[in-house]
Amino acid sequence: MSIQEKTILVTGGAGFIGSNFIKLILNQEINYRILNLDELTYAGNIKNLKDIEDNPKYKFIRGNICDRDLVEDVFKENRPDVVVNFAAESHVDRSIEDPRAFLDTNIIGTYSLLEIARKCWDLSGNNHQQLINRFIQVSTDEVYGELGEEGYFIEETPLAPNSPFSSSKASGDMLARSYYRTYGLPVIITRCSNNYGPYQFPEKLIPLMISNALEDRELPVYGNGLNVRDWIYVEDHCRGVLKVINNGKIGEVYNFGSNNEEKNIEIVKIILNALDKPESLIKYVEDRPGHDRRYAIDASKAKKELGWEPLVDFEKGIKRTIQWYIDNQEWWQEIKSGEYLKYYDRMYKGR
Ligand code: NAD
Ligand code: TYD
Repeated sequence: MSIQEKTILVTGGAGFIGSNFIKLILNQEINYRILNLDELTYAGNIKNLKDIEDNPKYKFIRGNICDRDLVEDVFKENRPDVVVNFAAESHVDRSIEDPRAFLDTNIIGTYSLLEIARKCWDLSGNNHQQLINRFIQVSTDEVYGELGEEGYFIEETPLAPNSPFSSSKASGDMLARSYYRTYGLPVIITRCSNNYGPYQFPEKLIPLMISNALEDRELPVYGNGLNVRDWIYVEDHCRGVLKVINNGKIGEVYNFGSNNEEKNIEIVKIILNALDKPESLIKYVEDRPGHDRRYAIDASKAKKELGWEPLVDFEKGIKRTIQWYIDNQEWWQEIKSGEYLKYYDRMYKGR
């Protein structure tokens, strides 16, 4: 390893955003090595990383972030300079069905990473060469709760999570904050709006609708379809996290969003139109309990302080994304068999 090379421990790197992030780093940042710690839950897919699995700067370790002994071994053996915690249970509907795994990974898992990072920090004494110099807690705008017709989430917006998913993420954020305030661990928290792009698990709105439309299946729209999300192309989010690693201020929170609010029903229609499929595939189904009405992010702090800008507008991003799902049908068809069929039945049958 050369003198300047740093090691980033990425957790959850086999998931949607983590895998996009790892590829971005390996393609751009010559000075970083990546260690990917991922349990490979239903949402983790090692095939997401097949393009880079032989890259000498990349190493994969299968393991659970809740397993403190394992996490400690990983830290001691690899001495990461930076930790980026993407590992999470990430789907609101699954959290409504059964919150337990969300509490385990998003709270206890985050605690376990923070605690081991703190230990390594303490053990290193004043030897700044070996310290964790950044612990990035990747979070979500959903911790802020919901908005009415007006306004935006800023970093100071009080946390008011409404789903078991978002409350578990908010708990992880609070723990991360406390490790900064209490122990001086160099924590930075990021909160991003809804991501879309290649490799997103087809339980989330955009990949579910694209893949269902490609199979001429019904597109289940919750409630009246008027809930609003603020969509960001995944690569723009990943570039934001990289900016935070390189230039973020310790102890701060940074919001990321692309100023692209859209009603769910409009997203679904854009997808149908792009695929030349009929709107008769749309099926309005029973609403999600506690369904947050609107999210919208004010990302001006990240723009001003980090020099970050989203580069991919929605028109370009959704075209790219749809094309990726057309070109990679094997990837999602394999996912949409087996366990997924049971999940889909539980979630949508008779709804
Ligand atoms: P994902 O569900 O696609 O991937 C999660 C990854 O974490 C998977 O590879 C899974 O195997 C791994 N994982 C889960 N539990 C684990 C555990 N206990 N130990 C080790 N690995 C584990 O999620 P995503 O959409 O890529 O989201 C990544 C992070 O970004 C999450 O923290 C999420 O809250 C946050 N985020 C997501 C979005 C979005 O729109 N998807 C928006 C803002 C923030
Ligand atoms: P989702 O992709 O699950 O993200 P989140 O709930 O974290 O924002 O859902 C995005 C929006 O799409 C949300 O308002 C719920 C809605 N939705 C549907 O209408 N139908 C679906 O089948 C899914 C999965 C989501």
